[in-house]
Order: sequence, then C-alpha cells, then structure tokens
Amino acid sequence: MGNDDRIYCYEALSLMEDALADGYRSRSPVPEFADQAESARAPEARTTQGPARIPQDDSLAGIAAEAARCMACRLGAGRKRSVPGQGPARPLVMVIGEGPGSEEDKTGLPFVGPAGQLLDKMLSSIGLSRELNCFIGNIVKCRPPMNRDPAPDEQAACRPYLDRQLALLRPKVILAVGRIPAQSLLGVKDGIGRLRGRAYEFEGRPLVATYHPSALLRDEGLKRPAWEDLKLLRSLLDGLGA
Ligand code: URA
Repeated sequence: MGNDDRIYCYEALSLMEDALADGYRSRSPVPEFADQAESARAPEARTTQGPARIPQDDSLAGIAAEAARCMACRLGAGRKRSVPGQGPARPLVMVIGEGPGSEEDKTGLPFVGPAGQLLDKMLSSIGLSRELNCFIGNIVKCRPPMNRDPAPDEQAACRPYLDRQLALLRPKVILAVGRIPAQSLLGVKDGIGRLRGRAYEFEGRPLVATYHPSALLRDEGLKRPAWEDLKLLRSLLDGLGA
C-alpha cells in the first residue's frame, strides 16, 4: 500500500469515526460492490486513478483539525499536540520555522520557548507581530524526537498542510527562519549562511531567509546579519505598500 493510499484510508476511517460519534446513521442501502469487475481491470487502469479525494475543510481551523489527527508520517506517533500555526487570517508575513520543540509540543503553539521570545523581538523591531500581521508556521507540524531535523519524507508528508495554509493566508512575503525551511522551500542544499541576505521568489511572492532565532541565542555574532535580513524584509513590505 502506497503512502497516498494509507493517508486516504486513515482519513476515511477518521471521518467514519467522527460520523459515528455524532450518531450518524446512513439511510442508503448497502451498495453492491463491484470488486469482481474492479479486479478484472488492467492493473495500470486501477493504479492511475489514485485514491479518491475526500473533501477537505479548507479553513485554517479545518487544516488544524486534520493535522491534529494526522498520521501521514512517523512524527504523528510521538506528538503530544500538533502545532498548526498561529496568527491572523490575513497576515503580511508568514514566518516559517522548522518544526515544534518540546514547549510547542506541550502547548500546541509555535515558537513559545526562548527562541520564540527572540523571534517576537525580531519581528517587533520591524513593526511586525504574531498578534497583528504575522502568521507563524512550521515545515512540520509535529515535533521530531530529540529535536532532530525533520527527515525529507516527513517534510514532504507535511507539505500539503503548508501549501493549503499559504493558499488561504496569501501573505505578501515569506520569512524562512533557519536552514531547514530555507532549503525545503527553495529546494536547495546550501547552508543558511549562503541562502540568507537576498530576496527569492517563492510561488509569486518574495521570500527572505535568515538565521533561526536559536542560532542567534547560541552565537551573538549572527545578530548583525539577521538584522540586515529583517531590514530587507521590511524594505520589501514597504515596496509593496504594506
Ligand atoms: N523552532 C521552530 O523552528 N519552530 C517552532 O515552532 C519552535 C522552535
């Protein structure tokens, strides 16, 4: 069974569980299953169709609810809470970090530890905040064990949530904080020291990459270049009249 099939089965079972918990009873007669006709079809004909799409609730709350029960990768098994993101529905900036740490896993909120406090200060220095105009999200919504880097397949499994959030939020500019989000969004393997310091185009909007706030807490010397990145972000927003 492929990963798409697993996700499909899991979502279908979750929907059934929800429906039964709400006391749902179908009035439709049990259908006759055409599995003989199905198995007689050529294998290619069966596989090219892919899994049927379950209608998704494309609201931020709907995405958060799906992420909360997601088992599309191994991180789902270890989470206390998923961390879908936080901020206004029409932000100027979407900040994208790597993935939840221990505090975030406990609270369900992004960037709430010491790195989060520094992130809030960085944003406020250029007139931004998660309360007013920044949505804070992550590449993966569940905590990687021991705060290890999220593996490529975990990033890929979580990517549809981020894509759907971006489509809903339509931020003017993206700020990738740290190596993992910068590499993941730009599809490159360079280190953050090479990726920072300039604006990229990501799906029609500017993207700036900078150091992760926890790196700034470890190395004061990175604060100066990070400040340059923040000024670049501000100038992009100013240029867009935002
Ligand atoms: N680091 C991240 O990259 N994301 C968080 O949400 C918290 C810490």
